[in-house]
Amino acid sequence: HDYDLVVRGATLASAAEVFEADLGVKDGTIAAVGRGLRRGAEEIDARGLILTPGGLDPHCHIEEPAEGGGVQEESFVTGSAAALAGGTTSFICFVPQWKGHPIAATAESYEATARAAMADYSFHQIITDPTPDVLEREVPALVARGIRSLKVFLTYDPLRLTDGQFLEVLATARRLGALVTVHCENFDAIGWRIRALLAAGLTDPLQHAWARPPVVEREATHRAIALAELVDQPIQVFHVSCDAAAEEIARARARGVKVWGETCPQYLTLSTDDLARPDFEGAKAVCSPALRAPEERARVWARIQDGTLDVVSSDHCGFSFATAKRAPGSSGYGQGGAAARADGLPAFNAIPNGVPGIETRMPVLFSEGVSAGRIDLPAFVRLTSANAARLFGLQGRKGSLAPGADADLVLWDPTAERTLANADLHHAIDYTPWEGLRLKGLPTTTIRRGEVAVRDGAVLAQPGSGRFLARGPYDLVRPTGRVPDGFDAAGR
Ligand code: URP
Ligand code: ZN
Ligand code: ZN
Ligand code: ZN
Repeated sequence: HDYDLVVRGATLASAAEVFEADLGVKDGTIAAVGRGLRRGAEEIDARGLILTPGGLDPHCHIEEPAEGGGVQEESFVTGSAAALAGGTTSFICFVPQWKGHPIAATAESYEATARAAMADYSFHQIITDPTPDVLEREVPALVARGIRSLKVFLTYDPLRLTDGQFLEVLATARRLGALVTVHCENFDAIGWRIRALLAAGLTDPLQHAWARPPVVEREATHRAIALAELVDQPIQVFHVSCDAAAEEIARARARGVKVWGETCPQYLTLSTDDLARPDFEGAKAVCSPALRAPEERARVWARIQDGTLDVVSSDHCGFSFATAKRAPGSSGYGQGGAAARADGLPAFNAIPNGVPGIETRMPVLFSEGVSAGRIDLPAFVRLTSANAARLFGLQGRKGSLAPGADADLVLWDPTAERTLANADLHHAIDYTPWEGLRLKGLPTTTIRRGEVAVRDGAVLAQPGSGRFLARGPYDLVRPTGRVPDGFDAAGR
């Protein structure tokens, strides 16, 4: 046989075009694309189906260890089963840094945990404590091992960086050729709003949104971009929730700043209506930045359509409703200052932030985007894999249907319909914020490096079959060469 596998007669959707062809796989990579390919050892009749690259979810929190221990219901096995079932064949998750501890020990044990993954995976390194030793010794060592992106938080206690610390991280990334990703919200503004809300007795999940309105995201987005511009270091702004923050990105891009913006399905499909659901159900929709007013969603779609936001990630978080979201004193991403209420439930500021979505990311975007006529198939491919591959140094390897790329593929039945139910999902979390959403267009088969990993909802991949994606130097992170007065304070 010329090929190990031939997918025959599908409509192929790449980042640039839609066309009918057969696709041949050999040794885990795409070997040929064209009409009338010779027979493969295995054949898939894909007439009537759409073939896209497998998804690359560049922002998900999976089995991320907390310093104090803490329960992790989601594991790399369940998280990657969910990823594959939803068409995502690779993801990038986060190595934490605990203040006052060297990164190396945490990174090594987390890397060992991640070896159970069934999807391919890479890491961003979170920086919470940028000491000289971390910046001059540890981070260069991590980058040399292929962890070529840093994540910083401008809010959350105790994760946030001051502006001065953020500048040092930007300058370090500049010297090493790494991308910096940023959570943009103003910590002090949120703290001030939280204290006033609690003092007024306003403690419901909806007040999570009141504590961090668009202006606090817009301000931090502006500041992050300005500081990145000062250092001449490319950044990606994570999880843009509103037009005001996207506008800052668009303005900076227009003057040539290397800044990109990501959003997530929750900001395109959910709203403060979900936070306001009765019986504490609103806690299921607590994430940061917060969900916005219902009418904001159309503006975020418009920012996808005009290219300002060019990646849709899940920001998947493994916090169950019963054991984390409604459990007082549970740990996880949050602003700190836990406060319990008379009914024993946590006040809004003590609910762990983040929603599960690694499996639903692509189906929800396919249904609400492609099937609903908001985006075309190439845009879907760019948003779910190709752009993230370009941004994070995986271009040509992931997010592509061209010969030479890894044979990560998803077949979609554009006519299939289903009502989304958590019972059908593969994650270990006890809810999905999209329960009851009607989906049109579903993944039927996921192929990871040439092997059928999921067929009709059954996960066939084996734990440990995922591979670590080491990321080497790439052009996109090159600085622009523009620094004020021609004086390069970051140096080389
Ligand atoms: O609410 C969120 N997004 N939690 C996850 C951590 C983060 O901010 O990305
Ligand atoms: Zn410690
Ligand atoms: Zn974040
Ligand atoms: Zn996140």
